[in-house]
Amino acid sequence: MSRAKVVHVCSECGTTHAKWAGRCAGCGDWNTLVEDVEVDNTSAPVAASTRPGPTRIGDVGTEHGHPVATSIPELDRVLGGGLVAGSVTLLGGEPGIGKSTLLLQLLAAWNGPTLYVTAEESAQQVKRRAERLGAARDDLWLHAETSMPHILDAIERIRPELVVIDSIQTVSDPALGSLPGSVGQVRGCAQRFVNEAKERDVTIVLVGHVTKEGGLAGPRVLEHVVDTVLQFEGDRHHALRLLRASKHRFGPTNELGLFEMANGGLVGVPDPSSLFLADRRTGIPGSAVVPTMEGQRPIVVEVQALTNPSVPGVPPRRSALGLDGGRLSMLMAVLGRRSRVMVGDQDVYASTAGGVKLNEPGLDLGVCLAVVSAVRDQPMPADLAVFGEVGLGGELRQVGQAARRLTEAARLGFRRVIVPTNSPDCDAGIDVIRAATLSEAIAVAGLGSGALRATG
Ligand code: TYD
Ligand code: MG
Repeated sequence: MSRAKVVHVCSECGTTHAKWAGRCAGCGDWNTLVEDVEVDNTSAPVAASTRPGPTRIGDVGTEHGHPVATSIPELDRVLGGGLVAGSVTLLGGEPGIGKSTLLLQLLAAWNGPTLYVTAEESAQQVKRRAERLGAARDDLWLHAETSMPHILDAIERIRPELVVIDSIQTVSDPALGSLPGSVGQVRGCAQRFVNEAKERDVTIVLVGHVTKEGGLAGPRVLEHVVDTVLQFEGDRHHALRLLRASKHRFGPTNELGLFEMANGGLVGVPDPSSLFLADRRTGIPGSAVVPTMEGQRPIVVEVQALTNPSVPGVPPRRSALGLDGGRLSMLMAVLGRRSRVMVGDQDVYASTAGGVKLNEPGLDLGVCLAVVSAVRDQPMPADLAVFGEVGLGGELRQVGQAARRLTEAARLGFRRVIVPTNSPDCDAGIDVIRAATLSEAIAVAGLGSGALRATG
């Protein structure tokens, strides 16, 4: 016989506590404990394992794990080629960001039987949307269901190659004693789907809702269970959507997928540099262009800065949009101490144009020069791009993949690039200007305190 016991589970890391507490003893987060019911199965007999015993490494087959391309190139880029049969992927993102749309498009283009389990919308609603997306095809099965046994039945009957569960938070399994919607339920159901995927070699994608606060049954509880975690991000009021992997058992996690939400669904952005530079105005102060790297893809972005005298007696503001705030504060300190550009009495606002979130050391030099350009009210030359990491000593440090950055800048029509002195040589058809320090870069960019106004 199994007994049910009330416990408190952290919705972030899944640590179980016997008593409620304000702070999780596992991950240290505050206010993340939620009530759950734990079923004590310790008296149940141990089931015989269905898994094979230990194997010599040389005898292990490696035929599994080949990604299958999905015909959505931006998704394949993030997945390192496509979806792996028998794997479970969690797609997280705030409501309304486009998770259901992306997955319907995925199902639409799949060659073979697929099943879309929808708990949030009726089959009629999904069909209407599928028709709008051109996704209605014979081998796409819809099932408006929330109960685990019924979903497993459907998988047994239809034998799909690909299953989408929209969303994992709405599925419940009566066999798992805990309350529907609780952490225990969500994790238990996800575990059940993982077993199903492995046993049947079916590819499963779970949708996970994420609220700003992490919400009930936060995504971290599920991260440990699944093979791949994808995050779908963006501003609901803008069309741009970013797809990244935060965990990926079958490949690297540093690739960025870019989409635009259009009337006919999500459209991949194959040339992000052109998109991000489309609204750029040349000849205005406070702007620098940086060839950045997102995984294997170079993306040229504009960094903008604005400075304004701060209120006396109040610490100056450092506001970063699309950039790391702590990094911005550090760079402002380096500017003051190493290059004598005083911003201690200035509020500094810095952002990446287009709102794309980037966290790459190559941006440092661009952020610094955009601020110097703003504070001195001098624009940088329109045909000049820059990249490099800025160290605490004011030195410029090389960053990876210089050749690809230079080639991308040349492709977009830039004629000169300031790079750290130690960057490797390469012939990308663009003038390479080497600078050892931030001060040198300021001078060669025409932003020195004694410099004439640069002509835009
Ligand atoms: P949806 O996929 O339902 O988001 P999620 O599943 O993450 O909650 O998409 C929500 C938004 O996308 C909705 O506000 C309408 C918009 N949208 C389009 O702009 N074009 C389209 O073709 C579709 C299907 C949706
Ligand atoms: Mg949805």
